Amino acid sequence: MKIMKKLIAAAALAALTLCLLAGCAEKTPAGGDTKKTLVMATNAQFPPYEYYDGDNIVGIDAEVAALIAEKLGMELEIADIEFDSIVPGVQTGKYDMGMAGMTVREDRLEKVNFTSSYAKGVQVVIVKEGSDIASIDDLEGKTIGAQQGTTGAIYAADDYGAENVTTYASGNLAVEGLKTGKVDCVIIDNEPAKAYVKANEGLKILDTEYANEDYAIAIAKENTELMDKVNSALEELIADGELQKIIDKYIPAE
Ligand code: ARG
Repeated sequence: MKIMKKLIAAAALAALTLCLLAGCAEKTPAGGDTKKTLVMATNAQFPPYEYYDGDNIVGIDAEVAALIAEKLGMELEIADIEFDSIVPGVQTGKYDMGMAGMTVREDRLEKVNFTSSYAKGVQVVIVKEGSDIASIDDLEGKTIGAQQGTTGAIYAADDYGAENVTTYASGNLAVEGLKTGKVDCVIIDNEPAKAYVKANEGLKILDTEYANEDYAIAIAKENTELMDKVNSALEELIADGELQKIIDKYIPAE
């Protein structure tokens, strides 16, 4: 009996030593192969592209990213961070990609690369019902709210002066600012705008569109391998209609 135990202990030790030498610690459980993680940075207060459903981040970007990860044989991990930390975080390699209804812009292209575009965005203006702002021609001299670091905030500052723009950590907070009279309007992407107007009484979207944009995924300039893979995955998702299916699910035709 005693010898048996010793033998087992010795065998276990030998196996462990072998394991350590051969790097068994890194091996995954039998059957499964190790999946690398694809870390996506987003700012999950931007329905219908990314938002919380309970503890889960859902939305167009989350679902498209999940399909991309699947095609790449990777495990998707989503990091919810401040919108203006996404580009720097991707640039330094902290995150593999940034996907956040993010508009392709020259100044961002100086820091990161963008994949092919997977969706269109439009900047619109939200006002309170009964507001004296009837079109974008009335914005002069008004106070404008927007999410910090977004195109809405950038264009508003360029066109109407930074002193007239109040930036908020999220679109949601900008809308709160509008409701409480801190700003006269909010400039934000059309789909989140629709979601906010639906969720809050007494708000409306001006008919005139402010700017048209392309959304794409940000990837570090030196990570050309991932760029190629994600672009191919996107191409497939576009070709087989999967992308449109996800968009239609979140943006039902009016
Ligand atoms: N399209 C705008 C931009 O790129 C706003 C994006 C905000 N996205 C978000 N997930 N909060 O600047």
